[in-house]
Amino acid sequence: MAQPKINRVTLATLPTPLESGGKLQSGANLWVKRDDLTGLGVGGNKARKLEFLCGEALDNDATCLVTVGAAQSNHCRMTAAAGARLNLATHLVLSGAKPKRLEGNQMLAAMFGAQLHHTGFEANDWKNLETARAELTKDLIRDGQRPHSIPIGGSTAVGAIGYAVAFDEIIAQCETQKFVADAIVFTTSSGGTHAGLIAGLVRARAKDPQKVLPKVIGIGVAKGFALSAESVAELANETLALLGETARATPNDVIIDPSYMGSDYAVPTQAATEATTWAAHRGAWVLDPVYSAKGFSGLLGHDAQGEFAADSNIIFIHTGGLPSLFVTH
Ligand SMILES: Cc1ncc(COP(=O)(O)O)c(C=O)c1O
Repeated sequence: MAQPKINRVTLATLPTPLESGGKLQSGANLWVKRDDLTGLGVGGNKARKLEFLCGEALDNDATCLVTVGAAQSNHCRMTAAAGARLNLATHLVLSGAKPKRLEGNQMLAAMFGAQLHHTGFEANDWKNLETARAELTKDLIRDGQRPHSIPIGGSTAVGAIGYAVAFDEIIAQCETQKFVADAIVFTTSSGGTHAGLIAGLVRARAKDPQKVLPKVIGIGVAKGFALSAESVAELANETLALLGETARATPNDVIIDPSYMGSDYAVPTQAATEATTWAAHRGAWVLDPVYSAKGFSGLLGHDAQGEFAADSNIIFIHTGGLPSLFVTH
């Protein structure tokens, strides 16, 4: 099948390193895929999605970017960074009230020149936040702008292509580093990273059905956005269609474990605090309490439950989140 034209702009520093992380308690080998080091606006997973989302924006002759997220959204901060790189004005619709002093991701987003729209909504009120994005987008169109409006987390099929490509990048690095990956574990929230990885997995499986491919395990950290295996498989299938692939994912391909979220999005857990210390002491990997620490606590939890065989190879995708560590309120 002819490869459809997909516009991509270079925003990330790729490939990111795949570092050895020593042994887990079970004797499995840990590997850390450093997507916290994608470079764009201090890095994180969203750089990969934004390469395709901004490619789409430029294709549509957009004059500005609009997106939405929690007050300390990494996705919003990285969209602001992409806007700065591409000379596109950026509007961010954020949960929470306007703080007295901007901190963490908000401080960086403002530094990159974005306009922050503080809505007062709760961080997990994704429905109202999305409505506010739609309204702002309409206002900008009324003012003669051509906004490229990106949903929460950049989790469209176009954005997810970034992680289908990342799946191939990981498999190629495993081959270079002479091991076969048994599982890829990562934090999932709006589902685009997960859908992209599943699209990559399904595409690789269709290309070579004999090839041993890793299990893809998402550790869910948000319940405001009702993610299911069905919805992730559906997004993966839209992504596969955009890539011109005929193979399709099923919900059986999608593993989402929400049991490491704790009581809600962004509410700290003891396991995440312990995972943060473990990672910092083992490899000086800096995890954030909202996303990557909960994801990594899931990896350690699955290991403790005996899910990984001794000498198997388990990859943790470190999806970033550094700036929220510096938020004091
Ligand atoms: C640091 C970090 N990790 C993981 C995720 C989850 O990615 P996704 O929204 O694609 O599920 C996010 C999303 O905001 C994030 O900021």
